Amino acid sequence: MNHENAAPDPPPDAPEVRAVAAYLRWLSEGISKEQTRAWRGKGLAQQLPLDKLDPKRGRSLYLAKCSNCHGLTGRGLWIGGLKPGPLWGPKSWNDGAGAARTYTLAGLFRHSMPYTAPGSLTDEEAQQIAAYITSQPRPSFAAKSLDFLVEPRPPDAVYYGR
Ligand code: HEC
Repeated sequence: MNHENAAPDPPPDAPEVRAVAAYLRWLSEGISKEQTRAWRGKGLAQQLPLDKLDPKRGRSLYLAKCSNCHGLTGRGLWIGGLKPGPLWGPKSWNDGAGAARTYTLAGLFRHSMPYTAPGSLTDEEAQQIAAYITSQPRPSFAAKSLDFLVEPRPPDAVYYGR
């Protein structure tokens, strides 16, 4: 099930899959399964309650802190040799992806964005911006009805509540 809205996965023995597997093996060399990494588990210290999330405030913050690289429509602009993928719209990740959940998305960029000043957002700012991004349209995950069959739907899975 592909949540990232990409083409179907290549077979396990495809050259691309073997190359990525070799890369991951190389990255993990000398690291035991028990060992933790400095970046692991870095998310939000505190989640705002859902009713305190305000996409309008998120939009102002997005315009001030993100749009110069991600564009007014979220599609991503060329900066040097880099172009970020679209944050919403038909070519973005679909609404079943982890990043389509407000707290998960906020946790993702809380420590990695803005690109030139990672870590400069507060938890609150990250969540308001994520609330704005998850208020925007994106492709629908085809197997949505099969998600969360045995566990409760997370409260921030906004696209499932609509
Ligand atoms: C100075 C330019 C710049 C600014 C400002 C910036 N970003 Fe980014 N962003 C990037 C680049 C470049 C990438 C792609 C990074 C990579 O491929 O390694 C990226 C990637 C991302 C991604 C992952 C997209 C994907 O499809 O994988 C998210 C989410 C994101 N940025 C959110 C934000 C948010 C939210 C802000 C504002 C708080 C922000 N960015 C500000 C340049 C920027």
